Amino acid sequence: MDKNVKELVELVEKVLLPQLTVRSESEYDPVAVKDIPENWKLIGKGNYAAVLMHTSYEDFVVKVYGRAVDGVNKEAKVYERLGLHPAYSQLFYKGNKYLILKKLTGVTLYDAVHHGIYIPESVIKDINAALDYARKQGLNPFDVHGKNVMMKGSHGYVVDVSDFYKKGVDKKWTDLVKAYYKIYVPVIGKYNIRIPYFLLNIIRHSYRLYRKVKRKFS
Ligand SMILES: Nc1ncnc2c1ncn2[C@@H]1O[C@H](COP(=O)(O)OP(=O)(O)O)[C@@H](O)[C@H]1O
Ligand SMILES: [Mg+2]
Repeated sequence: MDKNVKELVELVEKVLLPQLTVRSESEYDPVAVKDIPENWKLIGKGNYAAVLMHTSYEDFVVKVYGRAVDGVNKEAKVYERLGLHPAYSQLFYKGNKYLILKKLTGVTLYDAVHHGIYIPESVIKDINAALDYARKQGLNPFDVHGKNVMMKGSHGYVVDVSDFYKKGVDKKWTDLVKAYYKIYVPVIGKYNIRIPYFLLNIIRHSYRLYRKVKRKFS
């Protein structure tokens, strides 16, 4: 194991995990995170996990699961299948409730829409290519939405592969791409409209309702 990873594992086990609390209150909303030790920074929250970094190990993130700890094994298996690809992170270590991953820099597309950072088409294309690559490795890109994809400059990345082992069809990304061409390019991006988080949250919840109703009646 890389020396830095080894040191980081020690810090995670001896300092981070004994202090940190990651609680999942709803399966549809991000986890609640408390008691972050000194020198650690929270860089993201998902519905399963909190993602943190240590200020002396800037190339890595630690993804600590709050619930569905079994998810750690599943996500690790997805990374094994994926192998190395420029649009994905990389797994360095698997603990019993956490993963050490390569840190991706940039912003999530969700935050880009919030901050009014223009999302070029090349980002969408990179992500499409990355998802095709995952399919070729026998995976099923699932739960790909605005908080699970990132951009830096003109490049797109997929930051969360935790549900790629699931079966079934998940339309989030295809719907997002449609919205990109129909609403983002001609209006939101063109006029540099920033969308506040409360509105993004409403859109997120309405989208889930829309999909649920559509499933029921189709
Ligand atoms: N490798 C990474 N590099 C940089 N940021 C990350 C990385 N992994 C996750 N993040 C950030 O943390 C957030 C939550 O991580 P994610 O893997 O989506 O958790 P969950 O599986 O709970 O949804 C992401 O939306 C992203 O902002
Ligand atoms: Mg996520």
